[in-house]
Amino acid sequence: MSKNIIVAIDGPAASGKSTAAKRLAKALGFLYLDTGAMYRAITYTVLKKNIFDNLEKIFELVKNLELKLKFEDGVTRVFVDGEEVTNQIRTPEVSGKVSEISRIPEVRAEMVKLQRKLAEQGDLVAEGRDITTVVFPEADVKIFMTASLDERARRRFKEHQERGEQVTYEEVKENLVKRDKIDSSREVSPLRKAEDAVELDTTNLSVDEELQRMIELVNKARK
Ligand code: DC
Repeated sequence: MSKNIIVAIDGPAASGKSTAAKRLAKALGFLYLDTGAMYRAITYTVLKKNIFDNLEKIFELVKNLELKLKFEDGVTRVFVDGEEVTNQIRTPEVSGKVSEISRIPEVRAEMVKLQRKLAEQGDLVAEGRDITTVVFPEADVKIFMTASLDERARRRFKEHQERGEQVTYEEVKENLVKRDKIDSSREVSPLRKAEDAVELDTTNLSVDEELQRMIELVNKARK
């Protein structure tokens, strides 16, 4: 049996990774993995249990919790110990704290283990911050996705509005700047472009153009 194909996508917050990765996975019939959802689910649970300042308890939590992602009809449904937290993990509260939780090495180690396991199940499109550099450095296709800060803030603000959440454009933009800074400067697995990753700036690309470019990259890798 030939080995599974892995498409790895990294990029800053709201650069369009999730939309692009989902559409690519659907077009090719690959599995889809939103690794940010995993760090968000841990963060949500840490906040709910009120253990944000207790590293020992956070270690214990990540070792013992049961995290499940189900990709259905274009949505990643997320379950923690059987409870669905799909909507709860996207709130401004969780966005405000997720970079602090995902910089903890022990949290990352557990998540990376789970992410690699999934790649054994079939061809995969995975997106996050360290997918091309740490989780799957040997991926068949490696993409670094970017977009201007204003475009990213606009996209994320629209998502919050669609969910009826009370947050201003300025707050959204500030959160993106803050997260990008922490995500790119942390010691363990910082966000950076892998040398052999293809950079895709989506600021002025339609989602269809984006998809087309990615399919071309996959076809090239398959040859
Ligand atoms: O992709 P996202 O915005 O949902 O990710 C939420 C946070 O999770 C992001 O600010 C940093 C962290 N993250 C990470 O550290 N490594 C990943 N592979 C994916 C996300």
